[in-house]
Amino acid sequence: MSIIICFNNKDPKPWQETLQTKLPDTTIEIYPNVTDSEAITFALCWKPEQNSLAQFPNVKVVQSVGASVEHIIQSQDLASDCVVTRIVDNRLSEDMFEFILTGILSHLKRFAEYQKAQKEKQWQQKPYKTIQNTSIGILGLGKIGTHVATKLAQVGFTVKAWSKSEKTLVNVSCFYGNDGLTDVLQNTDILINILPLTSATENILNLKNLSQLNKNGYLINVGRGEHLVENDLLRLLNNQHLSGALLDVFRTEPLPENHPFWEHKNITITPHIAAITNIETASGIVVTNYKNLLNEKELINVVSIEKGY
Ligand code: GLV
Repeated sequence: MSIIICFNNKDPKPWQETLQTKLPDTTIEIYPNVTDSEAITFALCWKPEQNSLAQFPNVKVVQSVGASVEHIIQSQDLASDCVVTRIVDNRLSEDMFEFILTGILSHLKRFAEYQKAQKEKQWQQKPYKTIQNTSIGILGLGKIGTHVATKLAQVGFTVKAWSKSEKTLVNVSCFYGNDGLTDVLQNTDILINILPLTSATENILNLKNLSQLNKNGYLINVGRGEHLVENDLLRLLNNQHLSGALLDVFRTEPLPENHPFWEHKNITITPHIAAITNIETASGIVVTNYKNLLNEKELINVVSIEKGY
């Protein structure tokens, strides 16, 4: 029984050290340096290489080191007795809320424009928007989406939210299914995407949907790059239907140097940092699941491979 850490675009060392402290008698190795492939029963993953887990025939649990699992489900051909789990952590939800609130307020108060004006030593007052007069639409009501929607409503925004199945939240107007999507898009100033990536949600941020937002609408994408049809966003920014976008996730990460988003004056780019898994809080979840596997107890935060989240 041992653990393999398979990370791409993320440093595995701090995870190995932290887990080793909590599980001193367990062998914890970093892919691809493995002494005994057959001994691996638990894989901790972030964007594992295509089918890389196939070389560990006894893997029973594939634990995502983040909230999302599409990077595992889409890249691995998992055995039918293999379970996929993810991180569900209040710290992650709160970090996401703080990131989104920062993005919304700096948009309403036009901070990016003032930063540019400062570089040019220009003193020019512009009208600003208020929380009370701003309506927000949220796509995705999983653990993180629910937290963000609830807290934005508490701050005073008008909040609508959309999910696949029916949900009810205090002070948030909830819609679901294909019909409900239009209700969330229309009469909305700021759209926030926190959906999981599945075949049903891929390309959901497209011309047809984004053009239903209010004139001068704003997009915040913290879901996945594959949710966004990039040329549709550029078109809606360039014809001034949308006033801007804050993008934290991209089809290719890191965003290639020659990508047009870098240069666009109305796009703000952050390097996938909206909510980073906190090693202190999240390693406890990983250890619990590893011990549950050892003791044949029920695993926590299990996802449906069929649904994709
Ligand atoms: C971040 O993108 C995550 O999936 O946790």
